[in-house]
Amino acid sequence: MDLKLASFSDLDKISKIEKETNEYPWSPNNFKSSLNAGNSSIVLKDKKNILGYAFFSVIGTDSHLLNITVSKDFQGRGYGKKILDKVLFQSKVLGATVIFLEVRVSNYKAIDFYEKFGFKRDAIRYNYYDGSPREDALLMSRQGL
Ligand SMILES: CC(C)(COP(=O)(O)OP(=O)(O)OC[C@H]1O[C@@H](n2cnc3c(N)ncnc32)[C@H](O)[C@@H]1OP(=O)(O)O)[C@@H](O)C(=O)NCCC(=O)NCCS
Repeated sequence: MDLKLASFSDLDKISKIEKETNEYPWSPNNFKSSLNAGNSSIVLKDKKNILGYAFFSVIGTDSHLLNITVSKDFQGRGYGKKILDKVLFQSKVLGATVIFLEVRVSNYKAIDFYEKFGFKRDAIRYNYYDGSPREDALLMSRQGL
C-alpha cells in the first residue's frame, strides 16, 4: 500500500469514488482546480485501486483540510487514519502549527473520526452548505501538529 501525491491522471478515479461516497460530492473540476491552485494532496493506493484521498492547503502556519474520503467499500479498516496521519505530518513539514476543517453538522461519523484525532469543536457557521434546506458547518481545529 502506498501514500502518494495526487496527479491529474488520478482524478477520473478519484471523482468516481467521490460521487459514490459523498452525498454532496466535489465535481471533477473542483479536484482539478485544487491541484491547479497548488494545494497538497495524499492518495492511498493498493496495487489496483485508489482506496482514499485527501486534499489540503497550507498557508503560513495554518493548514486547512479541504476533503478527506475513503471509498465506501474500504471504510472502517484504518485507511482514513492512515491518510489523516499523513496529512497532519505533511502539514507540519510544510510549516503548519494548526489544522482547520469544516464538516456538516449531520456527519456524525466524520465528527467522531476527527475527535479521535484530537480535533476540538470551535464554532458553528450557520447555513454554510448548499442543499435544501441549507446545512450548518461545524468548525473544528487541532493545535500543535
Ligand atoms: C470519515 C472517513 C474518512 C473515515 O475513514 P475510515 O477509513 O472509515 O476510518 P478508520 O477506519 O481509519 O477509523 C479511524 C478511527 O476513527 C474511528 N471511526 C471511524 N468511523 C467511525 C464511526 N462511524 N463512529 C465512531 N468512530 C469512528 C475508528 O473507530 C477509528 O478509531 P480507532 O483508531 O480508535 O479504532 C470515512 O468514513 C469517509 O470517507 N466518509 C465519507 C466522506 C466524509 O464524510 N468525509 C469527511 C467530510 S468533512
